[in-house]
Amino acid sequence: SHRITLGPLVAAIDQGTSSTRFLVFNSKTAELLSHHQVEIKQSFPKEGWVEEDPKEILQSVYECMERTCEKLMQHNIDISNIKAIGVTNQRETTLVWDKETGEPLYNAIVWLDLRTQSTVERLINKTPGRNKNHLRHKTGLPISTYFSAVKLRWLMDNVSEVHEAVMSHRAMFGTVDSWLIWCLTGGKSGGVHCTDVTNASRTMLFNIHTMNWDPELCKYFGIPMEILPRVRSSSEIYGLMKICSSLKSGALSGIPISGCLGDQSAALVGQMCFKDGQAKNTYGTGCFLLRNTGSKPVMSDHGLLTTVAYKLGRDKPACYALEGSVAIAGAVVRWLQDNLGIIGSSEELEKLAASVGTSYGCYFVPAFSGLYAPYWEPSARGIICGLTQFTNKSHVAFAALEAVCFQTREILDAMNQDSGIPLNQLQVDGGMTSNRLLMQLQADILCIPVVKPSMPETTALGAAMAAGAAEGVSVWSLNPEDLSEVTSEKFEPQINPEESEFRYARWKKAVEKSKNWET
Ligand code: G3P
Repeated sequence: SHRITLGPLVAAIDQGTSSTRFLVFNSKTAELLSHHQVEIKQSFPKEGWVEEDPKEILQSVYECMERTCEKLMQHNIDISNIKAIGVTNQRETTLVWDKETGEPLYNAIVWLDLRTQSTVERLINKTPGRNKNHLRHKTGLPISTYFSAVKLRWLMDNVSEVHEAVMSHRAMFGTVDSWLIWCLTGGKSGGVHCTDVTNASRTMLFNIHTMNWDPELCKYFGIPMEILPRVRSSSEIYGLMKICSSLKSGALSGIPISGCLGDQSAALVGQMCFKDGQAKNTYGTGCFLLRNTGSKPVMSDHGLLTTVAYKLGRDKPACYALEGSVAIAGAVVRWLQDNLGIIGSSEELEKLAASVGTSYGCYFVPAFSGLYAPYWEPSARGIICGLTQFTNKSHVAFAALEAVCFQTREILDAMNQDSGIPLNQLQVDGGMTSNRLLMQLQADILCIPVVKPSMPETTALGAAMAAGAAEGVSVWSLNPEDLSEVTSEKFEPQINPEESEFRYARWKKAVEKSKNWET
C-alpha cells in the first residue's frame, strides 16, 4: 500500500490523573497525527483516600500505544518514523514495587489523597514556631499531604509488604514516570529506575538548589535513599522501549525513551514558555499556573510553590518556576456527574450552566482535598453556600465553573504580587479549555484576556519536544519559530471590573467558611 513520507515523528505518553494518552506528532510542524485516550479508574476506599491501580495505569499505556499504532497504520504512516518517546505524568502520585517480581506492593497513592493529614499536622507541630514552611528553603514546598515523601512514609509504616521489601532491599519507589519508564524498558529484567528533575522536585526529598536527593530530608522523613530512582535531566536517553513484538505497538520496540517531565512542566514547554516571566495555566483534574522564573529559584511570599520547570539536557541549565496549584478543577465536573448525578457528561455541564448564565449568588468552594495554593489548609472542606429557594442545579453547575475561575484568580493575584510584574494575558490549555463558557468566565473574573492554543495537547507536545531534543535523537530544534503558525483563540473580558470584584469578594467570604472544618 501507499506509504506517506512525513519525516521524523515524535511521540508522548501522557499519564494524567483521570486518563492516559499516547500521541504522535510530526516533529517539523508539531501537528498531531494520531492519538488514543483511555480513562483511569480512581478508588476512594475511605473518606479522603484516593488510589489508582499501577497495573491498570501500565495497561492503559499499552492499550493507548496499540490503538494509536493501529490508527497510524490505517493512515499508511510508518511507525518506524517515530524517533523518540517522551513521558509526562501526574506528579507526586506515589508507588512502591518489588524489583524482583516486578509487582506493585500497594495501589498508587494519588496526589489528592488526604490520609497523611494527621502525620502532616504532627510534623508541622514539631517545627520551631509550627511553621509549615520549615523545609521550603531546600524544597520550595510547604509541608503538605500533596507531596510524595509523606505518602511513601505512610506506605512504609502501614503496608507490611512495603516494609518487608524495604528491609530486604527489594523495594523501588517512584512517581508514575519512574514506574512507567522502569516497566517499559524491561521491568524486572533490566528496567531503568530513574526520574527527572521536575518530578523529583515534587517529592519533598529533593534539594532544588543542589539538584540532588537530599540526605537530610530523607532522614527527616525516614526514607532509605537506596529505594529512590536516579535523577536525570528532562531530555536525555533513559533507555529503549521493550514491547512484545506480536503486537502492532511491537514496532515501537527499540525506540529511545528520551523525554520525561511532570505534566505541568511539560505544558510549560509545550506552550513555549521558555522566557523568564512567561506563564501558562492548565485545566486538568486540578489546575496549575506555572510562571517561568529562569535560572533562579524564586521563593514565594504568597503561598506559591517553587519548583523545577525543566532541564532540557544533561549539560543544560535548570529552569525554575513559581507554581500556583489548585487541587480541584476538572475533578469537580466528575463529582457533579458521578456523585450528584446532575450531569451525564462533562459536555452537559456547559449547557446546564449556560442555561442560567449566573450562579444567582450561589458559591461553591470544592475544597475536597483541603485547600492548596495560596492557603495550604488541609483541614478545609468543600461547601456550597448562598442557597435560596430559587437555587437549582443549573446555578450549582454555574457556581462550579466559577469556582475554577476564582481559584485561578487567587493564584494569579499571588503570582503577580510575588513577581511584581502583572501578567497581561493568560495562556491556557488542558481538557476543560474546550468549555467556552468557562474560558469566557475566566477572562471576566481575571479582567485580562485568556488565550488558548488551537492544538490543545500542549502537555504531550512538551514531552515529545523534550524527547526529540535529546542527545542523539535531535529531530526537534526547540525553536518556536520553526513551528507552522501557531493559531490560537482569545477570550476578552466582557463584564465590568466592579462586577468582577464584587463576585470575587463574595468568593473570598465563601473560602473563609470552608476553612478549619476539621479542627
Ligand atoms: O500535581 C498534580 C498534577 O500533576 C496533576 O495533573 O492534569 O492530572 O490534573 P492533572
